[in-house]
Amino acid sequence: MPDSDQTPPDLPTPVMAIESSCDDTACAIVTIDGRIVAETTLTQSGHVPFGGVVPEIAARAHLAALPTLVRDTLAKADMQPHELGAIAASCGPGLIGGLIVGADMGKGMAIALDKPFIAVNHIEAHALTARLPGVAENGAPFPYLLLLVSGGHCQCIAVEGVGHYRRLGGTIDDAAGEAFDKVAKMLGLGWPGGPAVEALAREGDPRAVSLPRPLMGRPGCDFSFSGLKTAVAQKLPVAVRTALPRQEAADIAASFQQAVSDIVIDRLGHALAMMERPTTLVVAGGVAANGVLRASLRDFAARHDLPFAAPPLRLCTDNAVMVAWAAIETMRARREAGLPIPNDIALRPRPRWPLAEMAQRMTADLLETTP
Ligand code: KG4
Ligand code: ZN
Repeated sequence: MPDSDQTPPDLPTPVMAIESSCDDTACAIVTIDGRIVAETTLTQSGHVPFGGVVPEIAARAHLAALPTLVRDTLAKADMQPHELGAIAASCGPGLIGGLIVGADMGKGMAIALDKPFIAVNHIEAHALTARLPGVAENGAPFPYLLLLVSGGHCQCIAVEGVGHYRRLGGTIDDAAGEAFDKVAKMLGLGWPGGPAVEALAREGDPRAVSLPRPLMGRPGCDFSFSGLKTAVAQKLPVAVRTALPRQEAADIAASFQQAVSDIVIDRLGHALAMMERPTTLVVAGGVAANGVLRASLRDFAARHDLPFAAPPLRLCTDNAVMVAWAAIETMRARREAGLPIPNDIALRPRPRWPLAEMAQRMTADLLETTP
């Protein structure tokens, strides 16, 4: 392990992390300098017939998959459990059943191996991914503007330091990915809907169907997609919803996708004005896979003379590498603040865990402040 100011030699690494907050079961091992030793992600398929994530199915699937996933990840890394320095797990926000499964697995390992257990805030993990070496040029220095767009989240966050996050705005109804999924369902496409809508939209005209852009031009950077979704529903005669002529469906898909992209760019303009000059624009979350949105974001960043960082897709969507990295960043920042390595063995997973609470971790023990 290199011994320098950047990499304190006495942090317990490598970190094995578990992610189980939604419908991806993942495990990864990451070193102190951000090298991904091994990673495994399993996207659950049991939700497909239901057209959305079913929490009970998700929790049971995490429970069934995790023991093998952990063993496979160790085998890929060619490591023995005792060679791990610490264990981390997403402890919120997310679906509580899955969070309990992942956190208990991690805690059990930490107790058995006598290693620290680090509870990670899932959104914080998304927020810090851009700092993983090799993801963004110059490692996305603080402060940067994060757009998180996934099936469960849609928010703009000023990432000012480890533990220091300012939520600038977020959705007041549906998340962007949720809107894609619902429109896909209306058009008779499969789940998850985002990729299917994008594929169909390639055959359509984004100006063909007039759709609203809720909240566009309004102060602040909150988002709203529910009116847009309703407007799409109103364009579909109920009797023929799943049997629209392909061109009409493609035009609706393209027009909807364009509306989402226009809304996001407008809201980002406001978010930018709510920050001291950010160093970088970072995007994360499954919707960041969308080519039209990515192109608009790249163009927006160029117009504002901002570097644009989009982690590779496997690190944009839910994964355990980001959880391990957030644990490493947390340990390093706490060490720099003169605080001990956290041991969150008694921390209960939380379905809601506001990012603003993470600042307390940089001055005290999280356990003292968590209900
Ligand atoms: O981050 P993610 O994998 O999981 C969480 O929600 O946490 O995001 C999944 C969401 C789904 O709603 C999916 O439809 C959407 O991301 N998505 C897309 C695309 N690929 C995935 N949305 C638009 N265009 C895509 N190409
Ligand atoms: Zn996520």
